[in-house]
Amino acid sequence: MKILVTGGAGYIGSHTCALLIENGFSIVVADSLINSSINAINGVKKIAGKDFPFYKTDLRDEASLEKIFAAFEIDCIIHFAGLKAVGESVEKPVMYYENNLISTLNLCKCMKKYGVSKVIFSSSATVYKSDNPMPLTENASLGACNPYGWSKFMCEQILYDASVAEKDFSVVSLRYFNPVGAHPSGLIGEEPNGIPNNLMPFIAQTARGIHSEVKVFGNDYETPDGTGVRDYIHVMDLAKGHQLAIDFAQKNTGFETFNLGTGSGVSVLEMIKAFETANTLKLPYSIAPRRAGDIAISYANPEKAQKILGFKAEKTVEEMCRDTWNFQNITSKTQS
Ligand code: NAD
Ligand code: WQD
Repeated sequence: MKILVTGGAGYIGSHTCALLIENGFSIVVADSLINSSINAINGVKKIAGKDFPFYKTDLRDEASLEKIFAAFEIDCIIHFAGLKAVGESVEKPVMYYENNLISTLNLCKCMKKYGVSKVIFSSSATVYKSDNPMPLTENASLGACNPYGWSKFMCEQILYDASVAEKDFSVVSLRYFNPVGAHPSGLIGEEPNGIPNNLMPFIAQTARGIHSEVKVFGNDYETPDGTGVRDYIHVMDLAKGHQLAIDFAQKNTGFETFNLGTGSGVSVLEMIKAFETANTLKLPYSIAPRRAGDIAISYANPEKAQKILGFKAEKTVEEMCRDTWNFQNITSKTQS
C-alpha cells in the first residue's frame, strides 16, 4: 500500500514514516522543509534500513504536488504538512491561513483528479472551545482562539464538505493532544527552530544547559498543584494511531474525527519531576506569570478511538521523558 506523507520530515510525520515502513507500507514524502530538515528524512531511512522517495515540495505549489500524484499510484494520504506555532499565527495570520488552507485545498483537488479517496488529517485539540467540560469528547463544542486553531477548524470543514460531495472519500481527522517523546533509537525527535514554545522541548533544552531554567507559566490555576494540566501522548503512540486510521479509512467512507490522547492529565510540575526522575538529573525552574491564552486543564476522552480504531496509548510519562532526553543527548553529541 502506497502512502503519500505530506510534512513527513516534521516531528510527528517522521515518526509515523518510521512506523509505517517498519510495518510494510510503501511511502512517498512531500515536505517543503520550512520547519524541518533533511536530517529527519535521513534518520528515518537509517531506522528503516530502506530508501524511499522524498520530494522537497511546497503543497501550495499545485503543479509540483500534481507531479507526485502523477508519478505514483497513491492509495492513501497522511496530511501532516502545516505551520503550527500558535504565537506566530497571531502575528502572521494571513501566512498561516494561506499555508494551511491552500495546501489542503490543493491536496483535495489532486485527490479528485487522480482518484485518491482516503486522507488522514492532522487536526488538534485546539479545535475545541476552551470552556468545554473535561475530558473532551469529539462532540465537544468547536471554535478556536487563534489563527492556527481556526486554520485547523477550517481544514476540517473543507475536508468534511469534500467528503459530502465525493461519495467515495474517506476522511479521518485525528485531533492530537500534546505530542511529546522521540523514537527510541534517538535518531529522530522534536527539533523546533529557535526557542521552543512547548513545554517538553523547553525542558529538554534546559536539561542540556541551553536555557538557565524552565519558567512555569502560572501556579494559581484551579488544578491540584496550581500548574497547567495537559494530556501528553508519546509520539510513537500517536504514530500507531495513524496506522489504525489507515485501516479505518480503507473500510469506511465519509468524515470521522478521533481524539488521540491518553485520557490522563499531567501538570507542569509533575512533568518537571518526572523528567528529573526518569533521567536522574536536576532541572532548575521558577514560577512565572500565566501565559496569555492558556487554559488550566485540557485532556481527552479517548474512548471513541479505543472503541472504533482499537487505539490505546501505551507509553508512560517516564518513557516520554526518557526518549526525549535520549534524543536530545544524541543530537547534542552529533552537533558538538
Ligand atoms: P512540524 O512543523 O514538525 O511538521 C510539519 C511539517 O510540515 C514540517 O516538516 C514542515 O516543513 C512541513 N510543511 C509546512 N508547510 C508546508 C507546505 N506548505 N508544504 C509542504 N510542507 C510543509 O509539526 P508536527 O509537530 O510534526 O505537526 C504535524 C501536524 O500536526 C501539523 O499539521 C500540526 O499542526 C499538527 N499538530 C501538531 C501538534 C503538536 O503539538 N506538535 C498538535 C496538534 C496538531
Ligand atoms: C503545556 C503546559 C503551559 C512552556 C500547544 C498548542 C496546541 C498544540 C500543542 C498544535 C501549559 C506550560 C509551557 C513553558 C510552561 N499544538 N508551559 N512553561 O499550550 O497545551 O498546546 O501545543 O496543535 O495548539 O497551543 O502546550 O507545551 O506549550 O504547554 O509552564 O516554557 O506547559 O502553560 O500549561 P499547549 P505547551
